[in-house]
This record gives sequence, structure tokens and C-alpha cells, in this order.
Amino acid sequence: MAFDHGGTIYAAARQLGCHPSEILDLSASINPLGLSPAVRSACLAALEQVPHYPDPVAKRLTEALAAHFRVPVTSVLAASGSTHLIHLLPQVVPGSRALIVAPAFSEYAHALTRHHWQIDYHLLSPNDGFRLALEPLAAEVRRLRPQLLFLCNPANPSGTLYPSRQVRELLDRCTPTGTLLVLDEAFMDFCGEEHSAAAAVVQSGRGIVLRSLTKFYALAGLRLGCALAAPELAKRLGAALPPWEVNTMAQFAGVAALADHDYAAETRELVADERNLLFETLSRLPGITVFPSTANYLLLKLDAPLTAARLQEDLLATYRILLRDCSTFVGLNQQFVRVAVRNRSENERLIEALHEAVRLPTR
Ligand SMILES: Cc1ncc(COP(=O)(O)O)c(C=O)c1O
Repeated sequence: MAFDHGGTIYAAARQLGCHPSEILDLSASINPLGLSPAVRSACLAALEQVPHYPDPVAKRLTEALAAHFRVPVTSVLAASGSTHLIHLLPQVVPGSRALIVAPAFSEYAHALTRHHWQIDYHLLSPNDGFRLALEPLAAEVRRLRPQLLFLCNPANPSGTLYPSRQVRELLDRCTPTGTLLVLDEAFMDFCGEEHSAAAAVVQSGRGIVLRSLTKFYALAGLRLGCALAAPELAKRLGAALPPWEVNTMAQFAGVAALADHDYAAETRELVADERNLLFETLSRLPGITVFPSTANYLLLKLDAPLTAARLQEDLLATYRILLRDCSTFVGLNQQFVRVAVRNRSENERLIEALHEAVRLPTR
């Protein structure tokens, strides 16, 4: 299966002949604060436990996740990254047809294709800011009768946040066709739990919520995520996982991360401030349209003849800045790039580089 994601710092470093730490990675959207001191200590403590097998039921972590998301413990299934759960779904849910609200994370389609599901896309348009209208989507669900409907909130790569009320309405619209809503809230922590529809989805028994701890808690290399669903569905998904799915260090890190409320508050404040600054500054650059975002990334549209591939290549070669070329997203094209929101000095590095890049004559 094609690998079409950001965060490819090792390949970029090999290409440039430098160390991966010299690359400013804006292609994966990770918390600019990095590991919290509490998580770092938890990882060190976990090292002592590494000779032993992990707790196979990840009890402390599961309890912490249940308390954090305000759902019953029996509704939580921890996994080594939400991507693993995405790949389980088409194996565990009976069916053969899925609808994806796009543009969206490509692993939904990869997982479905691997298990021979038919995929339809409900395309949102950049021309109206990727607005999600309930009626046309509900009509598609009625017409296609998919067994799975994938919606990411806040959306990636657009950064649009759909109100939780709209998500709950969509859930109701899925009932007549028995469609299971897969609500990917990988970036919801950046918006705040008050925008999440997780509790309602779990309670309805008609959906599954995917949460990732790799972005907000900067644990991408450790791999940690979870599914929240009605107990029967959570159990069915869990039965498809191999034993010791979540390693000891990830279990310790997850418990410490969820308890670190100061880190969470600081992150939300920093990201909101820096996103506003980046949005305003980049919006003033000629030839770039910036889409408003609620998450820790911004989607940019470049005016032709500048393309995402060209900009990515130039910024990497000249500034060691790695952007996400979004041309591989269904519903976007070679004019779209995504940049992560980082700390002030890193954002200034991007602004300076883009300033230069948009003035360069195009090849
Ligand atoms: C929308 C979305 N969902 C899920 C994931 C997977 O995250 P992870 O497997 O690291 O938990 C990603 C990663 O980029 C993502 O962008």
C-alpha cells in the first residue's frame, strides 16, 4: 500500500545528508511543546519495566482514558496508534461499502481497499471553505447505504470544526440504513473536549470514535490511540487485536499525559495564539490563500504556476523545512499544502522562507 503521509524526516535527512533533528518538520502536525516533563519521567520509569510483558489489558491506561473521555471503561479500547484501529474496522465490521467525507486521512481508504470494500467519497469543496451540509450527506447515505461512514472532526487537512450538534444529527441520519459512523477525533484535543461528540456517539451504539494521543501529547514515535464505542463493539474490535498491543512505555506515557492538565492548557493557548499569528501573516502573502483552522495545522492554496511539489522541494532544499504536499488527498490537487503550527521561532522560520519562495520566479 502506498505511503502518503507527512513526517518523513528520516528520508528527508538521508536526501539532504543531515541529521533528522536539523529538519523543521511541518508536514506532521505534532504539539510544538514536545514531550511534557511528566511524560518524560513516566517513560524513564517504564524503562525499568521493559524486561516484563506489558499489562495485556492496559488497566491503568484504560481507566484513565475512560475518565478523560467520560465514557464507561468497557467502552474503551487502547491501541498502538489510531491507525491500527482504522485498519481493524473493515475486518471486524460486516459490510463491503463505505462513504468517506473528503478530503480526509488516506488510511481510511487504504484500510478499506486492503479488505476489498467499495469506497465512495462525499467531497467538500475548498470554494465554500469545506462546509459540511447535512442534507446532501444524509441523502448520499440513504442512496448508497454504506455500512461505514468516515468523518474526521476537526477535519484534516482543512482544519474545519463541525459543531457537535451537527455530528449528533448525522448520527441520527445514519440509523435508517444501519450505517456505523466512524468519527475520527484525532485532533479534537486542540479544540477542547466541549466540542467532542464522543459521549453521544458511544451512548448511541451507532458509531465509533477514534482518538489519537500521538499529536496532542507528542507521542508519534511511541504510537498510542484508542477507540471509544458501545461495549459490545469495543469488545469485538479488541478481540481482533493481537495480545500486548500497547507497549509498557506507551501505557505509562498515556497515563501521565492524561493527568497533565497544565500541559494541555498551555498547548491550547500556545497553538491558538500561534495559529492566529500564522494565519494573519500568511494571508498577507501574495499568491497564497489560507483556510481558517481550529487545529494545529493550516491548509494553504497556492496560486498557479507555483505548485505544492515545487514549494516542498524548494523549502526542503533551501531551508530544511518539510511541508505536506496535499496533492495526494482525494478532492485536493497540486495547489494545496499543509503546514503545522509550531512555536514562535519555528513559525517565523516558515514565514521568512515562504516570503522568499513566493517571490522566486517559477521554473
Ligand atoms: C485524521 C487522522 N486520523 C488518525 C491519524 C493517525 O494517528 P495515529 O495512528 O498516530 O494515532 C492521523 C495521523 O496523521 C490523522 O491525521
